Amino acid sequence: MARITVAPVILMVTFFQHKILFSTSLESGQPDVVDGLGAHNVLWITKHGSRVILSWNNNLTKEETKKYTVKYILSYKFFNTTHEKKERLREKKKVIPLELHSGFNAKVKTQLFAKETEDVIKESDWTEFTYKAPPVYIQNFSCIIYNISFFNCTWLIKAEAPEDIQIFFSYRHVGKDFECQQYIKNARKKNIGCHMKEIYFQPSRKINLNITIRHLRHNSGGLSYYKAFTPQTIEKLNPPINVSVSLENGSIKIHWKPPPTIGSASSKCFLYQVKITDRKIVDVTAEKYESPFHKPAKKCAVQVRVKKEVCIRNKIWSEWSEPVFIHNEKTVDVMLLNLTLFCLLIFLGGLMMYACRRYRCLEVITMPVPHPSDNIKTWLAADETCQQKQMSMQVEMHSEVTMAILEENRDKSIQEQKFLKESGFEDR
Ligand SMILES: *[C@@H]1O[C@H](CO)[C@@H](O)[C@H](O)[C@H]1NC(C)=O
Ligand SMILES: *[C@@H]1O[C@H](CO)[C@@H](O)[C@H](O)[C@H]1NC(C)=O
Ligand SMILES: *[C@@H]1O[C@H](CO)[C@@H](O)[C@H](O)[C@H]1NC(C)=O
Ligand SMILES: *[C@@H]1O[C@H](CO)[C@@H](O)[C@H](O)[C@H]1NC(C)=O
Ligand SMILES: *[C@@H]1O[C@H](CO)[C@@H](O)[C@H](O)[C@H]1NC(C)=O
Ligand SMILES: *[C@@H]1O[C@H](CO)[C@@H](O)[C@H](O)[C@H]1NC(C)=O
Ligand SMILES: *[C@@H]1O[C@H](CO)[C@@H](O)[C@H](O)[C@H]1NC(C)=O
Ligand SMILES: *[C@@H]1O[C@H](CO)[C@@H](O)[C@H](O)[C@H]1NC(C)=O
Repeated sequence: MARITVAPVILMVTFFQHKILFSTSLESGQPDVVDGLGAHNVLWITKHGSRVILSWNNNLTKEETKKYTVKYILSYKFFNTTHEKKERLREKKKVIPLELHSGFNAKVKTQLFAKETEDVIKESDWTEFTYKAPPVYIQNFSCIIYNISFFNCTWLIKAEAPEDIQIFFSYRHVGKDFECQQYIKNARKKNIGCHMKEIYFQPSRKINLNITIRHLRHNSGGLSYYKAFTPQTIEKLNPPINVSVSLENGSIKIHWKPPPTIGSASSKCFLYQVKITDRKIVDVTAEKYESPFHKPAKKCAVQVRVKKEVCIRNKIWSEWSEPVFIHNEKTVDVMLLNLTLFCLLIFLGGLMMYACRRYRCLEVITMPVPHPSDNIKTWLAADETCQQKQMSMQVEMHSEVTMAILEENRDKSIQEQKFLKESGFEDR
């Protein structure tokens, strides 16, 4: 048990603090109370195993202690972080979990409150304190529980870490100690993670991690760092199960079930997101989603993912569920339509080929003829077989006039000539 006492550092009361105090006293209708204590807190650290305890005293007089309610404002910030934590405390100490931080800056001030009205009567200056811990050679430490019983932790080794260190990992959960089952190693054979399976987690009891860094050459015990998690907060759920999709009446209906979880499976704990191809992702709290939906232009997939939100704060989303493609009678319609189009295309192709073969006949027909009788004779001589085929096909490629000509021609009657004259199929 190390005890480090540090001389108090008195800070100038800043203009800002003056302003706050002034407004406080104005509100409470008290006379100005700036640093009525003239007192300095003395701060010291006690390191006990994995715990850093920051303690302080006040040097209030006995009367002051009796007359007023005494509270302390503690503010602290770990090195290389931006978030400053601020607390109002009644006791004269605070256990600060150092985790993988290499130290912190803290400051404390004493406040005296009127017992009846809870107004601030007096307030001390800030007393500052800096705690430097031994260097920490790893960073970006994170853990995840997935698929109910799997547990992964990973970390990065800082560039400034000595070459001859190795990192060891163990944890304590519900009174039992566990060693790492399988280390994940980098190219230089340093442990940069730990993978474990078939672990039983008690969701509300903490997992206390022990990360120990040992120098391989000198046989010292190494430095241990500690970090704790509540299992539920680091659980990555499996994707939602039994996702089903139906399209009816111009709307899409999606149903699913929550995945198994180590913590509470109450339906109000889950937050889902639904993703439909090309659409905006939607947050959903129910186990279903319904929305207007029209004939999909192309193949459309539905996916759902989940995390715990309400019962426990958890930032980790599950993977997206396997895509479910939208099938409905409209899809079949499209296929039928395609088939019809294909048949039609083949039919038209055949027709074109036929038309090409007949091209010469057409040429003859459309050729300007001085005398209808001559024309017919020439035409007949040109192609006998062509004529017959055309008859059997009965295609509407040409005017009925042409068809009529062909029909009449076979009989070689005189009537046809009259008909031709009547229908204007004459030399123009
Ligand atoms: C507060 O502490 C300082 C130094 O520790 C001392 O000089 C001063 O007299 C104390 N004040 C009271 C009111 O006890
Ligand atoms: C972290 O903070 C310490 C103390 O303030 C400083 O010495 C060190 O250079 C910082 N490291 C980085 C990576 O910023
Ligand atoms: C590691 O964490 C630092 C901040 O602590 C961040 O800037 C950096 O991108 C992280 N690196 C990786 C690989 O995640
Ligand atoms: C999830 O856990 C089950 C049962 O423990 C196991 O059969 C399955 O292989 C696991 N899935 C993955 C992706 O690890
Ligand atoms: C956990 O670690 C194992 C071993 O490296 C890896 O195969 C697996 O993908 C990791 N799982 C997650 C969810 O990070
Ligand atoms: C953490 O692990 C190291 C190495 O295994 C061990 O020496 C140390 O006692 C452990 N700390 C606690 C608090 O169990
Ligand atoms: C999911 O679907 C399977 C098979 O269709 C079924 O056996 C199971 O009971 C369903 N699970 C839930 C939670 O509905
Ligand atoms: C379809 O919608 C119409 C009007 O929007 C409604 O009257 C009808 O009950 C709906 N049918 C089904 C099966 O939802």
